[in-house]
Amino acid sequence: MLGRRFFSITRTLSHENPLGIPRSPGKSTTAKPPPNIPRMQRGLPTKQAIRGVKNVIVVSSGKGGVGKSTTAVNLALATAGMKHRVGILDADLFGPSIPSLMHLKGEPELTENGDRLVPLMNYGVQCMSMGFLIPQDAPVVWRGLMVMKALQQLLHQVEWKDVDYLFVDMPPGTGDVQLTLSQQVIINGAVIVSTPQDIALIDAVKGTNMFKKVNVPILGMVQNMSLFICPNCQHETHIFGDDGAMRMANKLEIPFLGEVPLHADICHLSDTGQPIVISQPDSAFAAHYRTIASNIIDSLNKQKNIP
Ligand SMILES: Nc1ncnc2c1ncn2[C@@H]1O[C@H](COP(=O)(O)OP(=O)(O)OP(=O)(O)O)[C@@H](O)[C@H]1O
Ligand SMILES: [Mg+2]
Repeated sequence: MLGRRFFSITRTLSHENPLGIPRSPGKSTTAKPPPNIPRMQRGLPTKQAIRGVKNVIVVSSGKGGVGKSTTAVNLALATAGMKHRVGILDADLFGPSIPSLMHLKGEPELTENGDRLVPLMNYGVQCMSMGFLIPQDAPVVWRGLMVMKALQQLLHQVEWKDVDYLFVDMPPGTGDVQLTLSQQVIINGAVIVSTPQDIALIDAVKGTNMFKKVNVPILGMVQNMSLFICPNCQHETHIFGDDGAMRMANKLEIPFLGEVPLHADICHLSDTGQPIVISQPDSAFAAHYRTIASNIIDSLNKQKNIP
């Protein structure tokens, strides 16, 4: 079984210090080295580019369940529709959503020399997820180092093919996965997803601050579930409050990338693995995702000083 072969790759991993803990026996690890010494010499992992990928965009939030995965998938598909080569990396090791959202299952093949996983592909987008490597109903029971090693494999041992934009679907929160990823990989920008609700926004601010702290550029904020339009009478209800994410983006001085209403079709089509950008490309919802995708690319270009 590939799962087993994959884990044997885990054992041969060359990253000996995945958590970046300084190793100098006999010396205090609390002494702060001068900041002008390069990361590697300070015992910290150096940031690497992901092979085969030009731009890495993480889709994140502080709070769970605000629509990161749904947003990441629809933005990836909207970007692929603009004739870019796109990939999705599912960094949610404990609750991978990408296999079902992208209607993909099965085990990835290994490259000829057996050291890399070949992404699965649907709707023209390359995808990699822990969900392809473990049975759907099996709980992921690893902790600590095992999880970090699995993450490193997903970061460094996937054979991406000329990907212009890799969207990384993050797990909720600001934990080990977020930190490891931002310390080890060159991330070109973070997109923060939030509902307009205060409690989600508080966590969104935490997420934003974490990325700022590790020098990951913030591309902007997406307001998900901004508005509910009744399919019968077209009455509009702001279930989670009114424009909270937009106001928060202004307050944090980060771009507001756009909003997506709450609609049963978005949820239902996600559940059946036919994201709305693909299954209803002429809908207003698909148009929202396309607008946000092009705002993300603009924001990324601004970060890189590309007009
Ligand atoms: N705009 C929307 N309209 C209707 N339903 C939505 C919308 N966005 C997301 N959903 C639904 O909300 C639920 C949670 O979405 P999703 O799984 O994308 O959130 P998440 O932030 O990735 O969650 P987790 O933190 O668990 O990874 C799903 O059932 C999804 O279909
Ligand atoms: Mg998710």
